Amino acid sequence: MSTWGLVKTVFFAGITAVFFFVIWIHNPFAPHEEYELPHEAGKIIGDPKAAVEGRELFKQNCTSCHSLRYDGLYLMSVAAKPEWAQIEKTQGKPILVEKDGKLEVKGYFVPRDVYEAVAITDLEGLKASFGKIPPDLSTIYLSRGAGYLYNFIMDPQKVLPGTSMPKLFFPEYDKEAPEKVAKIVAYLRSVNDPSPGEKAKRALMGVVTIAYFLAMGALLWIYRKRIVSHMSH
Ligand code: HEC
Repeated sequence: MSTWGLVKTVFFAGITAVFFFVIWIHNPFAPHEEYELPHEAGKIIGDPKAAVEGRELFKQNCTSCHSLRYDGLYLMSVAAKPEWAQIEKTQGKPILVEKDGKLEVKGYFVPRDVYEAVAITDLEGLKASFGKIPPDLSTIYLSRGAGYLYNFIMDPQKVLPGTSMPKLFFPEYDKEAPEKVAKIVAYLRSVNDPSPGEKAKRALMGVVTIAYFLAMGALLWIYRKRIVSHMSH
């Protein structure tokens, strides 16, 4: 290869390397977390076992005001209505989990209009008390991220001054408060995370796409002379 050819090869390889570095490793276009997340909390949030405990904590602490319809959790006061169990079974879709190798129903996904029709007085009551309806938290992890949620639940006023969401966890009185909040965030995350099977499929799709471009690039490189001579006819 001539010196010029070598220079060109190094140049294009360099640009390609920088491109993938920017996309995958240090992406300046991706939104940055502005909220500090203690290391301990970060570890808990990534742990699927913590998410299972987080679901229980969420049920106890949050469902008096929030639903999480994607995972079959509804306002406590709605779930307690005598007709609700029947509505879930007739209008909802079972949400299945694998437990000890067997599939179990952990809840029902009820369409939003059906849920809201049943819950209307409960939702209006919350609106009267808090100025707005506490949002359903099915996709909150996707829009807010771990750092925001952890800090917000620990101290809502600090993150969203003037909010009517009350502070529920007090590290001064409950040493486990930060751990509990991290588990709740782990749960919110688990609801939005694709399943391991889905993640594997997406990774494979990425690899196949890149392999395709590399193969096409190599073929173009190998046959470049022939292609150019065809073009000039
Ligand atoms: C007593 C009622 C009440 C309880 C209990 C409650 N919340 Fe809230 N929450 C609210 C209200 C009201 C809002 C709307 C606040 C706003 O937009 O200013 C809200 C908003 C939120 C938001 C959205 C914040 C945003 O940036 O839009 C999140 C996340 C949230 N709550 C999480 C939780 C979690 C997790 C729990 C349980 C640990 C919980 N809440 C318990 C009333 C409550």
